[in-house]
Amino acid sequence: MKLKIFNFVFLITIFISQSCTIRLDYTLYSQLINDLQERTSDKYTPELIRNYFNLNQQSLKQFDEYLYFSENERNRLKNLAKEMFTFGYDNYLKHAYPQDELDPIHCCGRGPDHLRPDNINVNDALGDYLLTLVDSLTSLIVFGNSTEFKRASKLVIENLSFDKNSTVQVFEATIRILGSLLSSHLIVTNEYQPFGDMKIENYENEFLNLAHDLAVRLLSAFNNENSNLPYPRVNLKYGIPLNSYNHTCTSGAGTLVLEFGLLSYLLNDPIYEKVARDVSEIIFKKRNPITGLLGNEFNIRNGEWQGFMSGLGAGIDSYLEYLLKSFVLFGHKKELNMFKEMKKSIKTYLRHGLVEQSV
Ligand SMILES: *[C@@H]1O[C@H](CO)[C@@H](O)[C@H](O)[C@H]1NC(C)=O
Ligand SMILES: *[C@@H]1O[C@H](CO)[C@@H](O)[C@H](O)[C@H]1NC(C)=O
Ligand SMILES: *[C@@H]1O[C@H](CO)[C@@H](O)[C@H](O)[C@H]1NC(C)=O
Ligand SMILES: *[C@@H]1O[C@H](CO)[C@@H](O)[C@H](O)[C@H]1NC(C)=O
Repeated sequence: MKLKIFNFVFLITIFISQSCTIRLDYTLYSQLINDLQERTSDKYTPELIRNYFNLNQQSLKQFDEYLYFSENERNRLKNLAKEMFTFGYDNYLKHAYPQDELDPIHCCGRGPDHLRPDNINVNDALGDYLLTLVDSLTSLIVFGNSTEFKRASKLVIENLSFDKNSTVQVFEATIRILGSLLSSHLIVTNEYQPFGDMKIENYENEFLNLAHDLAVRLLSAFNNENSNLPYPRVNLKYGIPLNSYNHTCTSGAGTLVLEFGLLSYLLNDPIYEKVARDVSEIIFKKRNPITGLLGNEFNIRNGEWQGFMSGLGAGIDSYLEYLLKSFVLFGHKKELNMFKEMKKSIKTYLRHGLVEQSV
């Protein structure tokens, strides 16, 4: 929860300086910001927060510690998070770079499982593309570690290539690699440098160019006339794999609008935003006609649902998240309305847990 809010604020922050030319609805935008700031500010006590969320009953007092952080506690946890990040990051560089990630059991580097292409657990995220290093760029920014950000940027710019025989999940490559490259580009080129001096000498849009290169490769996933829904995976070098899986989770297909939209904006090329937004709308239209809820998996050959479990967890969560974030970033009312409709269905039809039952 805390991390989600943090992401959200970060996303808004990185966009503040870029937002002038974007069609933002400032009233709703500032409402959202105020709301977040109020909720995280120090004057908010457990009582107030419980009232805010309508959680007044005695039985919920036991959860107080999760509702509120004092300034001291917040700082302690902040430093702890930073320490944990540095530990992971340093050991990645020491034991695993230039592979994608550190295998913590064997303490060595790990990349795609080329011998077992169907090992999607590993292969979906790992693409032989410096995953952890790229993924960490924005953490270094948030922690204000200018020296290390510049050093890591140099490694990425000199050595990152997407010309790889790796079949990755479009969703993972988008949120991790594309997202990180775009955020880094925004920060490096931001004239106000909100996180400290993250400017890179002689920067020539390398992060943006890398993002563009990756996105062109991912674009082949949208070549699916059967249902207009994207293939879940692409081979970075060869496009859609011959024996591609034909099912995808809702999140996997519908969580691309932020990165693809931002790329379109930065490149002044509408195609990325269009394919991502189209998919988001196709999924929305697939809601159950009675409840308005979404399933968690569909077949991309015929567009039919094949996972009928609805919920807020894995498989669906980030679809909903991106509807709202996309409104915050781009200011399209349409997505806000989609979000509100989903919220209504969820409130009405999903079984509620402890909180609502005891109200
Ligand atoms: C920046 O990151 C490097 C690598 O993790 C670390 O050694 C250094 O202490 C960090 N600097 C600051 C100011 O946190
Ligand atoms: C690409 O990788 C796959 C699986 O890892 C392998 O079977 C195939 O031979 C490779 N293709 C080329 C052209 O190297
Ligand atoms: C890029 O990779 C090559 C080969 O692995 C290495 O020699 C070089 O030092 C790397 N560049 C940077 C900036 O680390
Ligand atoms: C997906 O569907 C296509 C066309 O029906 C088929 O050729 C392919 O084998 C299917 N993929 C899998 C993994 O079943």
